[in-house]
Amino acid sequence: MNAPDSLFGPSRLQTLACGRCGEEHDPHRLQTVCIACGGPLLARYDLESPGLPDLAGWRARPRIPFRLPELLPLRAGAETPSLGEGNTPLVEFPRVAAELGAGRFLVKDESRNPGHAFKARGMAVAVARAAELGARTVALPTAGNAGVAAAAYGARHGLAVQVALPRETPAPIRTACRALGARVQEVEGSIAEAGAWIAERAEREGWFVLATLREPYRLEGKKLMGYELLDELGRLPEVILYPTGGGTGLIGMARAFDEMEALGWTGPERPRFVAVQTEGCAPLVRAFEEGLDHAPPWEDPAPTRAFGLRVPAALGDFLMLDILRRGGGTARAVPEAALTEAGEDFARRFGMWLGPEAAACLAAARQLAGEGWFRPADTVVLFQTGSPFVYLG
Ligand SMILES: Cc1ncc(COP(=O)(O)O)c(C=O)c1O
Repeated sequence: MNAPDSLFGPSRLQTLACGRCGEEHDPHRLQTVCIACGGPLLARYDLESPGLPDLAGWRARPRIPFRLPELLPLRAGAETPSLGEGNTPLVEFPRVAAELGAGRFLVKDESRNPGHAFKARGMAVAVARAAELGARTVALPTAGNAGVAAAAYGARHGLAVQVALPRETPAPIRTACRALGARVQEVEGSIAEAGAWIAERAEREGWFVLATLREPYRLEGKKLMGYELLDELGRLPEVILYPTGGGTGLIGMARAFDEMEALGWTGPERPRFVAVQTEGCAPLVRAFEEGLDHAPPWEDPAPTRAFGLRVPAALGDFLMLDILRRGGGTARAVPEAALTEAGEDFARRFGMWLGPEAAACLAAARQLAGEGWFRPADTVVLFQTGSPFVYLG
């Protein structure tokens, strides 16, 4: 049962600060990117004033979707916007840990979310916030799963939803978007061309754009994955394998870890993130390897079974590169054949059918294990970000 989000007191949202130039923006108006430099806006909360729970107090709270509403942007007393997202299982595979040379290996199964992907978490917060700040229509380009999530939460909040997606997006995703009441535009090319289609029309049509990091609050929903890991493990894992497109999950979890340290719940330790992409579209991996601070767009991204990873350019590239480097993480690109093989092997031997994005992470883990990258005491968490079922057809 959903508890009202007023249960634990109002939001402590203070400001929206540009992740690039630091310029602050009014958090109580609908905002997209920084008007000064075009950078992504990041929510900042009052973590100083007394009244926030300590770690034990927080863990004693009921596991409602929004268990720390003080550190979410939503107004207290608003209708709870949940469709049951979050609190996903963390499933342990001891034999895989042994094969990788790590201490523990767990899969965070985000395919159990509404719409069968982790995208629900970001949209649960972003659409609710857009609705309370007065948006009427939300629009976004998507590799697929985010479109389904936006359609679902748009329906939940009575907003119209316009989705633009690549023409080759699998039929179940297009069908689900339409079933949930969204208008769907199919576009030639990748999510980059879908983004251009939306951008050309948004102002004229009065659409509020929910594209990755072009509004501040999808990150706030995604950060709850980081809080859940702390709750379930009792501490942070040493390694997080994350299939990376626009990077909301990676950046969102890193924000959670910073907040936890500021709250005194954890120390300065950080998980080593492994950002995983495919060889046919690996802008972040290339930039990481070349020591760049930004990732130049990937020309001509190759088709892949991992639709969510076909993202040639990400607005938050500089944030991700910084997170990877500061935390001792890395970035890996895997060949298409390796992700297919890794996924098939895992399904047959361990009973969990991974989505192709998660299978790419497993293929990357095998690469890293071959180099002795994992340490015997490492707890490794792999994010199964979406269900393979939505890609059938
Ligand atoms: C299943 C799946 N995994 C991973 C990603 C990449 O997520 P992000 O853009 O947050 O990096 C996507 C994005 O579409 C996805 O659908």
